Amino acid sequence: MSASLRILLVGYGFMGRMHVGVYKQLPNVELVGCIDPGPESAKKFGEDTSRPVFSNLEDAASAVQFDAIDVCLPTDMHREWTELAAKAGKHVFCEKPMSTSVEDASAMAETCKAAGVKLFIGHCIRFWPEYAYLKKLTVEGRLGELKSINLTRYGSFPKWATKAWTSDPKRAGGGVLDMHIHDTDYALYLLGKPDEMVSYGTIDQTGPSHVFTTMKFGSKIAHLEGGWNFPQGTPFKHSFRAVYENGAAIMDGGPLTIYEEGKEPVQPEFAKMSTDGGGNISDLGGYYHELKYFVDHVLANMPFEIVTPQTSLESLACVLEEIRQIRSKQ
Ligand SMILES: NC(=O)c1ccc[n+]([C@@H]2O[C@H](COP(=O)([O-])OP(=O)(O)OC[C@H]3O[C@@H](n4cnc5c(N)ncnc54)[C@H](O)[C@@H]3O)[C@@H](O)[C@H]2O)c1
Repeated sequence: MSASLRILLVGYGFMGRMHVGVYKQLPNVELVGCIDPGPESAKKFGEDTSRPVFSNLEDAASAVQFDAIDVCLPTDMHREWTELAAKAGKHVFCEKPMSTSVEDASAMAETCKAAGVKLFIGHCIRFWPEYAYLKKLTVEGRLGELKSINLTRYGSFPKWATKAWTSDPKRAGGGVLDMHIHDTDYALYLLGKPDEMVSYGTIDQTGPSHVFTTMKFGSKIAHLEGGWNFPQGTPFKHSFRAVYENGAAIMDGGPLTIYEEGKEPVQPEFAKMSTDGGGNISDLGGYYHELKYFVDHVLANMPFEIVTPQTSLESLACVLEEIRQIRSKQ
C-alpha cells in the first residue's frame, strides 16, 4: 500500500463533516471523494473539499482509486454499505453504533473477514483523551483498584439529522442506542463483561429515550445514565466520576481532576484539537485519535486492538439488552 490511505467518504452530514475536518489534519490521508445522494450534502462536500461527489459505488470506482470507505450514514444503512465496501475489497471505517441488530452486525463482521478487509467501528470514547487517561489509570492501578464509576451523557434531541432519520426508532434506535452506547461501550472497555445488569428507562416517539443502568462486575459497580429527551437548547454534556481505593478521578462540568487523600488535586493536561467540521463539543481529540489509529493501522497492516468488530458487537448486544429491559418494564 502507498504511503497515504486513499479514502472514499460515504455520507457528508454531521459526522462526515467532522471526519473531513480530521482528515485535513492527517498528512497520510488522501480524501478522493464522497458518495451522498442528498443534494445539499453533495453541494457542501464539493464546496468544502473541491473533491468529486458520486451517486453510487460503481461510478466512484470507475473514476477514482481508493483503499478504504468511511461510512458516515444513518445507522440502519451501516450493514448495506459495509458489505458493499468489503465485497469491493475496501477496508471499512463505519460510524457507531455498528448497526441496529446483532444479526446485521454479525453479518458485517463476517463479510469483512471473508473479504480479508479490516473493519473498524467508530467507538471514539475509547480514544477521547480523558477517557483514555482513565483507562490507563485503572489498568496501572496508581490509585488502587477501581471501586465504582458513574458515566453520564445527555442533551437535547439531535434535530439536524437528514430526512429526520434519528426520529425513527427503526433507523436510530432512540437516544439509548444512538448516544448512550458510547458509555456502555466504555464501561465494557474498562471493566469487561458485566455479571449482572439492570436497566430502567423512558420511551418517547423516537424510541428508548433515556436510560438508567447499573452494572456489576464482581464487586465493582458502574452506573450509567444517558438520554436525548431534554428540551431543545439544553447543552450536550458528558461526565464521569470514578472512585478508587485511594482516590478519585472526576470529569463533571470541568476539567478531569485527580483527587488523592493528603495531596493537592491534579488536572492532567491534554492537547486541544479542533476541526472545522462543526459540532457541539469543542475538544474533538477523540475523533482525531480514532481516525489516526484507523489510518495508521491499515497502512501498516496491523490488527486493531482498542476497538475490534467483536468488541463493537458486544457493546451493541449489551445496549440492545438494556433496551429490552426498558421495554419490558413499561
Ligand atoms: N461518534 C459520534 O460521536 C457520533 C456522533 C453523531 C453521529 N454518529 C453516527 O454517525 C452516523 C451518521 O450520523 P450523522 O449525525 O452524521 O447523520 P446526518 O443526518 O447528519 O448525516 C447523514 C448523511 O447521510 C446521507 N444519507 C444518504 N442516504 C440517506 C438516507 N436514506 N437517509 C438519511 N440520510 C442519508 C445524508 O445526505 C447525510 O449527508 C450515525 O450512525 C450516527 O449514530 C456518531
